Amino acid sequence: MKDLLVLGIETSCDETSAAVVKNGRTILSNVISSQIDVHQKFGGVVPEIASRKHVELIIPVIDQAVHDAGIEKKDLDAIGVTYGPGLVGALLVGLSAAKAMAYALNKPLIGVHHIEGHIAANYLQSKALKPPFVCLVASGGHSHIVYAEDYHKFEIMGQTRDDAAGEAFDKVARALGMGYPGGPLIDKAAQAADGRLIDFPRVRFGNESLDFSFSGLKTAVLNYLNKAEQKGEAWDAQNVAASFQQAVVDVLVENTLRAAQRKQVKIVALAGGVAANSSLRKQMKGCAEAIGLEVCCPEPVLCTDNAAMIACAAYYEYKKNNISDLSLNAVPGLRL
Ligand code: KG4
Ligand code: ZN
Repeated sequence: MKDLLVLGIETSCDETSAAVVKNGRTILSNVISSQIDVHQKFGGVVPEIASRKHVELIIPVIDQAVHDAGIEKKDLDAIGVTYGPGLVGALLVGLSAAKAMAYALNKPLIGVHHIEGHIAANYLQSKALKPPFVCLVASGGHSHIVYAEDYHKFEIMGQTRDDAAGEAFDKVARALGMGYPGGPLIDKAAQAADGRLIDFPRVRFGNESLDFSFSGLKTAVLNYLNKAEQKGEAWDAQNVAASFQQAVVDVLVENTLRAAQRKQVKIVALAGGVAANSSLRKQMKGCAEAIGLEVCCPEPVLCTDNAAMIACAAYYEYKKNNISDLSLNAVPGLRL
């Protein structure tokens, strides 16, 4: 059978990325151009700057991805692109490039949901992985527990009622004077510290709910820092980082495993930027394996935004003949 080559394009936030994936599972190239250094001085992503940077980078990044894959554009079978959720201006850059390529090459265009892409990163990590499984998707904009019943069939079992987990990491890192993005910095700072030292709150909504809430936790950290400063006491950034991280990890792991038991699946998967967190990966593995569940954990570069995951998700849409029209628009608030 002929190999199916899909080009993926991802520009929903501050990474300009293009990738070529073979038969939905083998990465031939995955070019990721991060704009982090541009946004760092503002302490977060500035949407207008992100759009302008995407415009500068999108063509070279696509050309590089095709080149690295050792193919020519005409060899592609389909073009997959993130059309939401995300920053509208940023999404439009990737979408316009994808549409232009699909039209010029006369290849099918496939719109991909960004969260579906994050979940699909697990198919790139584990070639044997098949649905059903329960996936924790924790990123800068989302904290969802998703039941992936099939490649295209998802059920949201729980989600954050306020801040996303990654957003909480970024805000707490800022309060600790660590910089942006906060997740990797807190992860690193926490490694040498004791996460059980400060008892920050873990919000639970009773037996039925699998929802999260992180804004109270963020406020508790800020109050802790303010109180210490008022008393003229020094706080230890590493201990605060570790204790905050522990509070987030505890609820992420607990709710995900409850969801897995509810659906009686055998596999738990991780996705999204926060899934790169070393403590989350370790605790999820330890706790899941203790109750006989297998854990699929994409390598960190496949957890944060990348186009290989979009090409993978697009492959499964293509197989189902879910082809998009060239009138496809960006949908910043797209729901799963
Ligand atoms: O998936 P992603 O790259 O973009 C979105 O779709 O939002 O996730 C970015 C988020 C940021 O909030 C970042 O701080 C967080 O993922 N993150 C981490 C780690 N690496 C990235 N959070 C905790 N620990 C990490 N190692
Ligand atoms: Zn993402």
